[in-house]
Amino acid sequence: MGRRVLVTGGAGYIGSHTLVALQEAGFEAVVIDSLCNSSEVALQRVQAISGKPIRFYRGDIRNRKLLGQIFTENAIHAVIHFAGLKAVGESSQKPIDYYQSNVSGSLVLLEAMQAFGVKQLVFSSSATVYGSEAPVPYVETLQTGRTSNPYGTSKWMVEQVLRDAAAANPELSVALLRYFNPVGAHPSGLIGEDPQGIPNNLLPYIAQVAVGKRNELSIFGDDYPTPDGTCLRDYLHVVDLAIGHVRALEWLADKSGAEAFNLGTGRGTSVLEIVRAFEQASGVTVPYRLSPRRAGDLPAFWADASKAKCELGWVANLGLEQMMADTWRWQSKNPHGYGAVATNK
Ligand code: NAD
Ligand code: WQD
Repeated sequence: MGRRVLVTGGAGYIGSHTLVALQEAGFEAVVIDSLCNSSEVALQRVQAISGKPIRFYRGDIRNRKLLGQIFTENAIHAVIHFAGLKAVGESSQKPIDYYQSNVSGSLVLLEAMQAFGVKQLVFSSSATVYGSEAPVPYVETLQTGRTSNPYGTSKWMVEQVLRDAAAANPELSVALLRYFNPVGAHPSGLIGEDPQGIPNNLLPYIAQVAVGKRNELSIFGDDYPTPDGTCLRDYLHVVDLAIGHVRALEWLADKSGAEAFNLGTGRGTSVLEIVRAFEQASGVTVPYRLSPRRAGDLPAFWADASKAKCELGWVANLGLEQMMADTWRWQSKNPHGYGAVATNK
């Protein structure tokens, strides 16, 4: 199997953790990232963890010329495609930006892969492609669609594009990885999630309250039909998720076609349970206020993760306690994330 992988969006939250997992598994990584939502410091930290170099190209995946240069200068065997915009709320305000980056960006990448004979692709999809009507737990055979925002629709659209491309070209093999709710950070505390502005997601918000950057957490809704009234999600450790990408690469080696895999733990945890688990792991109290529901939130969903176990040999090994302890280690060691040294934030 070829060992050199192009990682788009490699400076981002999941990308940076995946770089560590790739290097630990003996892969060489080449990164393209525009740094529109990340810092080059993350790549320096990854190299500090692994002791191995990463070749970095700063630029946009829609830049055909740059992609051509990357594929010419490096014997790339496979691509892991993280690059894209991911803020659900913002996607409704700026739908064209989201379709441009996520859909057009994937098309340009796919064309370049085709032109340079690169035949294996791992794509960052999302549990959001199951839409608002799917029964839980989500299983890959369910129909997808009925997405409720442009971000989700962009992921759904790229899945369709990749299925069609793989059907037309038997040499192409694609893993569509549907992530549930990634949280946590590398146990070194050197890399983690560093959102710009006010965090949209639960764990970064809690961590910023705990470190004193925000006053209190708003819990969005306590009247859902769940055991404690707050929403249930399938939170998984980003280090487990990163390893899932290595397993998917190994699986792709002798396959053709496009296959979807859920990457989750198979368990739902409530918002209140998360707050308590975080407090226990960090020893810090997280003040919270019960607030109205957030538009678009579903009451409860979690993964049926048995396909990834059977076919990829992947399971999420790290539990809630580790997720919370590692989130806190990252946040307390880096209260301003990649901070003042970050050039693009
Ligand atoms: P992130 O924003 O931290 O990482 C994305 C990276 O892509 C960033 O470094 C950003 O600078 C870069 N980027 C964005 N647009 C680009 C472009 N056009 N050209 C080049 N680089 C570009 O996000 P993340 O949480 O690491 O997510 C990675 C992927 O996983 C995304 O595709 C996201 O939609 C998907 N995903 C994330 C989650 C989650 O909860 N974090 C869940 C499901 C799916
Ligand atoms: C989790 C729970 C909130 C913040 C989103 C995307 C999804 C995927 C992962 C990319 C919910 C509650 C949150 C807060 C709260 N991303 N919450 N107070 O909404 O499950 O998924 O990220 O693909 O597509 O939609 O994650 O972390 O935003 O919320 O009470 O300040 O925490 O209501 O129940 P979500 P989240």
